[in-house]
Amino acid sequence: MKLIGLRLALQTALLTVAVSAAGHAEGKGNAAVPKQELDAKIAYCKTCHGLSGQGFRGSFPMPRLAGQQPEYLVNQLQAFIERRRTNPVMFNVAHVLSPSMLTALSTHFKDLDPKPLGGAPKELVADGKKIYEEGIPSAEVPPCGSCHGQDAKGSDAFPRLAGQLNDYVAKKLLNWSKERGQDPAKPDNSAIMQPIAHNLTEAQVKAVAAYVSYLN
Ligand code: HEC
Ligand code: HEC
Repeated sequence: MKLIGLRLALQTALLTVAVSAAGHAEGKGNAAVPKQELDAKIAYCKTCHGLSGQGFRGSFPMPRLAGQQPEYLVNQLQAFIERRRTNPVMFNVAHVLSPSMLTALSTHFKDLDPKPLGGAPKELVADGKKIYEEGIPSAEVPPCGSCHGQDAKGSDAFPRLAGQLNDYVAKKLLNWSKERGQDPAKPDNSAIMQPIAHNLTEAQVKAVAAYVSYLN
């Protein structure tokens, strides 16, 4: 019963993405971005997200973008613009991007492959691995790997988690319902993660965040 519900939610959500992507292609999203403009924008992103897109710890964690799935990145940038995902910094950054710039940027980070930043408590990794691979059946949490991939590299709208900063991952999971899917009139893929994030305890979140942060 639960699993069927989950897959239904998944199909509906991915359908929404497909429809909005199709709408996008009809617009001005196909125009090429001048290389100089793109390079300047990339340099700007890297002032916060790290010189190789590996992420950076400032006054708050700036997530790794390197190796991230382009489709997921486009979805998030659009979510920041439409305030379905709340973050004042990224709203300011994203709302000025043209659709073609948004696509070009999202593709750029896919090919970067820096080493993970590290820094997570190593003693949590073994517990985290178990959660990642087996889920928590008693709390109806499915294995993370069933959607994010056994190697945590993600695919399409399912984000890569490998090498992501553990403090960023933990913050996002603990605040999921307050930051993502904030427009009830426009449900998005964040609905798939909502019950999963909700059913994890803080200790479990910290463990699984530590595990993925060390994956190459
Ligand atoms: C002033 C710092 C800053 C700059 C410049 C910046 N970002 Fe961000 N970005 C952040 C922060 C902070 C977050 C984390 C937001 C959160 O916690 O939800 C973030 C999150 C993101 C996310 C979500 C990642 C995920 O894993 O869900 C994407 C995508 C992103 N930024 C893309 C970009 C791009 C592309 C650029 C350049 C055009 C850029 N950012 C420039 C600070 C910045
Ligand atoms: C049923 C499929 C599914 C399962 C199982 C799943 N996820 Fe997700 N997860 C997603 C989708 C889809 C997204 C992207 C949501 C969006 O676009 O808003 C996501 C997003 C995330 C994010 C946000 C990434 C970022 O860069 O901000 C984190 C962190 C995450 N998942 C962790 C986990 C962990 C840990 C588990 C296991 C306990 C897990 N997920 C299990 C589908 C799943």
